[in-house]
Amino acid sequence: MQSKQDSVSELSGARKRFPPAILAFFIQLVALGLTWVILQVGYMLFAVTLAGWGICLLQSVISALLATGLRMAVWWRIIHFLFPVTIFFMLQWNVPPWVYLSAFLFTLALFWSTFKTQVPFYPSLPTTWRQVKQLIPEDKPVSILDVGSGLGGLVMYLARERPNAACAGIEVAPLPWLISALLAVIKKSSARFKYGNYQAVNLSEYDVVFAYLSPAAMPELWQKAVKEMRSGSVLISYEFEIPGITPKLQIQDRPDSPCIFVWEF
Ligand SMILES: C[S@@+](CC[C@H](N)C(=O)[O-])C[C@H]1O[C@@H](n2cnc3c(N)ncnc32)[C@H](O)[C@@H]1O
Repeated sequence: MQSKQDSVSELSGARKRFPPAILAFFIQLVALGLTWVILQVGYMLFAVTLAGWGICLLQSVISALLATGLRMAVWWRIIHFLFPVTIFFMLQWNVPPWVYLSAFLFTLALFWSTFKTQVPFYPSLPTTWRQVKQLIPEDKPVSILDVGSGLGGLVMYLARERPNAACAGIEVAPLPWLISALLAVIKKSSARFKYGNYQAVNLSEYDVVFAYLSPAAMPELWQKAVKEMRSGSVLISYEFEIPGITPKLQIQDRPDSPCIFVWEF
């Protein structure tokens, strides 16, 4: 007989095999199937039928329970619960289909492969840019890359504040990249923005690599940095640590603000 330990490790295996968004998709599919089965059984055995909102609520509960069983993060369980009931309410409002399509296309262009990379778009703020600037040497020309440059705010700021530095950003999501490239032209910034995945860039070309990604992305970034970054170069991460790797420097603006971590190679 399968032990509890085995079932738990099988569940965690499912979590590791699929990115959370793909797992979430399958959970909703399974919950839909289970909802259908429960409705059929309820009708055949007890002649019970549910109203539209009841059916959606049933799917909400089932999907949230499945997400809990698969130990998804708490906010994923909340999303699972809200998803079917939100569909129900949206259908009541007769929103025209083009609104859904536009919203989908906008979020796709903004977040692109977040479902795979687990790195959503959210920009860093000027307070962070100022702290990063302090870490860039003034006395010699350096090359800087922001991996996942978003709207390019940090890169354009550094290009302005450190005119002898070559500042570049690479961004995988089309909309933030397009905005950053246009802003660089409008502001006549020397910053350069490339569209693509930073995994395809050779990090040995840079003296400073900056990252503001997510906890899920840090081990992969570290593996690449160790392989490619040259001696004397630095990796800077805002907010997210690399598990098990002690940084050379850890800077915090205020006790409640996120840290900046610096590793030197
Ligand atoms: C948290 S935002 C940070 C944006 C910017 N660095 C800043 O400080 O404002 C992370 C960005 O990284 C991008 N991203 C995630 N994975 C990436 C990858 N593998 N290659 C390039 N960009 C990536 C995301 O699309 C997102 O725009």
